[in-house]
Amino acid sequence: MSKTTNGKTNDSVQITAGASAQSGFDTTGYAKTRKDDPYIYQVGFGNQFASQALPGVLPEGQNSPQNVKYGLYIEGLNGTPFTAPRVSNQRTWIYRILPSVSHDGVFPTKQNPYLISDFSPSNPHVHVNGTQVTWKPFALPAATEKVDFIHGLRTLGGNGTAASREGMGYHIYTANTSMEKTAFLNNDGDFLIVPDLGRLDIQTEFGRMMVAPGEIAVVQTGIKFKVSLPDGPSRGSVYEVYGAHFQLPELGPLGANGMANVRDFEHPVASFDVDQTAWSVITKIGGTLFDYRQNHTPFDVVAWHGNYVPYKYDLDNFIVAQAVNKDHTDPSVFCVLRVQSKYPGISFVEFCALKEFLNTSAGPAGTFRPPYFHRNNAAEYVSFLKGGPGGTFGYSGFTPHGPTEAQWQEGINEEMVPKKYYEGMVVILIEPYQMLLLTDFAVQCNEHGESPIQPFTPNFIKHLDSVNDELKASGRAAITPQA
Ligand SMILES: [Fe+2]
Repeated sequence: MSKTTNGKTNDSVQITAGASAQSGFDTTGYAKTRKDDPYIYQVGFGNQFASQALPGVLPEGQNSPQNVKYGLYIEGLNGTPFTAPRVSNQRTWIYRILPSVSHDGVFPTKQNPYLISDFSPSNPHVHVNGTQVTWKPFALPAATEKVDFIHGLRTLGGNGTAASREGMGYHIYTANTSMEKTAFLNNDGDFLIVPDLGRLDIQTEFGRMMVAPGEIAVVQTGIKFKVSLPDGPSRGSVYEVYGAHFQLPELGPLGANGMANVRDFEHPVASFDVDQTAWSVITKIGGTLFDYRQNHTPFDVVAWHGNYVPYKYDLDNFIVAQAVNKDHTDPSVFCVLRVQSKYPGISFVEFCALKEFLNTSAGPAGTFRPPYFHRNNAAEYVSFLKGGPGGTFGYSGFTPHGPTEAQWQEGINEEMVPKKYYEGMVVILIEPYQMLLLTDFAVQCNEHGESPIQPFTPNFIKHLDSVNDELKASGRAAITPQA
């Protein structure tokens, strides 16, 4: 027998104390899909994260108390101007062993001549792209030379300038050597890193991320990081955005869920080293490298909180919002991340992952299923991450492209039964709104050569007699083809 909340006796209801979780959500119990990733993460996108590698280090109720536990230094990092609106304001508070300003000066260092950050038309090393370009998978460095992530970067193209904080750089990297007592600090833009060969073990000021092919990582402007190569020689792409940050696309009529879900983005937890030896922080400013030397590791952050934090995302988690009964939708439905342009609603660049979907069109509702012939407002650069021929091809905006005649013939003649597209494949695509100018390196590596001759058949001409019959029947003059 028990009493109900109104004091009356109730023989049928057993009142028991509730059971609450013993702590907040704990990522140590998070079901990881990647077994080759030893690290743990905090999940979300754009929210406020907090992490401390030792208990009681994060100050309560204030960011900058007079003293911090263990005599740690407080450092603020602003990813946006102080007065940016709340919806876009990004900043993080850092509690570390030594502040970043504690260094021994700036020294000349070996440059990477392939890094370009000025895409002004006056730069003689960037070029307008007039046709299709094709790059085979880029060769890995020879085993006889040691190339790390910083010096393995090669800029393919871009627009704007890092100096004006408007524009983007499009790079690839090929590397065979882990960075040792060296960190990379890119003050020019945010890096969206997409490995296609070999995992990247990325140690950042905020903690560690293991990024495998099929995953992507973003390390924002002004955050120090170090790249190790646990699988040896490695290769991938880097999309760099100046003066802006990646966002999730709006979902519009899709509703509250789908595409890249917020909870699938993984942010590191605080992790610090104790290391009072010589380090170099190789800093990229306007494409030029500077060596900030210091006698301590830059990876000494014991605790932090904020929303300006590196993250990674597994493209396997992307939810393809199309299984079509008629025409397939535009590739924007595959958008993983985007950058807002100065024009409302228009992306400066979209990063998409094209994945398997089902086209069920049949009978009278049959549709032409290959990608249709089109001339796109944006440029397009497409890379085969999984499946397909490998490599990359791309076009400037409004460059006509589409299927070959053979693919077109297959498209108009195929049996209209349900069919999967991009089966087993992951194809990544960027669509920059501004013209992408190509570097000397990109032009030299272009395998496409002269514009291909597309021997399409003008089928309409074969039917000219029937066309003229119809014209005459409706009182119009017949057409005489020009010789
Ligand atoms: Fe296209």
